[in-house]
Amino acid sequence: MIKSKHITWHESGISKEDREKQNEHKGVVIWLTGLSGSGKSTVAVELQAQLFEAGCQVFILDGDNIRHGLNKDLGFSPEDREENIRRIGEVAKLFADAGIIVITSFISPYRKDRDINRELLPKGEFVEVYVEAPLDICEKRDPKGLYKKARAGIIPEFTGISAPYEAPLKAELVINTDELSVEESAQKILEYLTKNKIIKC
Ligand code: ADX
Repeated sequence: MIKSKHITWHESGISKEDREKQNEHKGVVIWLTGLSGSGKSTVAVELQAQLFEAGCQVFILDGDNIRHGLNKDLGFSPEDREENIRRIGEVAKLFADAGIIVITSFISPYRKDRDINRELLPKGEFVEVYVEAPLDICEKRDPKGLYKKARAGIIPEFTGISAPYEAPLKAELVINTDELSVEESAQKILEYLTKNKIIKC
């Protein structure tokens, strides 16, 4: 629902296609989803490095970082997570419209919220990647010590422990980070991007 009245959409004169032609790749959203500790951020950083090296315009939007600024008013209730993911979907779309490959790294636990963001983009330009690792592996990794705190009841509504995670049913890619190395995970995404003519290299 749009609250403001008397607003008009303005065209900017330079289209997304113009930008994509100049960049020599498409502007897309690579939406990483998965449990905390599944490896989303690590894969995002590796993928970004490889795309950057190949001369692509690429940028990461990361959950922990965005919650320091744009979304610092949001917590982890279902409503706040929904709003978190809604805002990121809109921001990611802006990046894609600017011709950039944007990699988002958010738990994004609700299927509905991810699907809404998928609908913001033309078909094929929202690439959902399920960064999958079993809960017990994520808990063992516990890079930030958060699972331990969640088990102790210090962190409420923790995804996988006391809050739900709805795994994707139609992700373009599934990356099993307990089986693949970081490099192999990034490589799998790169292959998808090449095969689907999102990038050339
Ligand atoms: S999301 O669920 O709204 O998509 P987001 O990806 O932005 O979450 O943030 C998740 C990060 O916040 C986790 O990686 C973790 O570092 C931290 N965090 C703090 N509290 C929680 C919580 N209750 N559940 C999940 N992650 C949490």
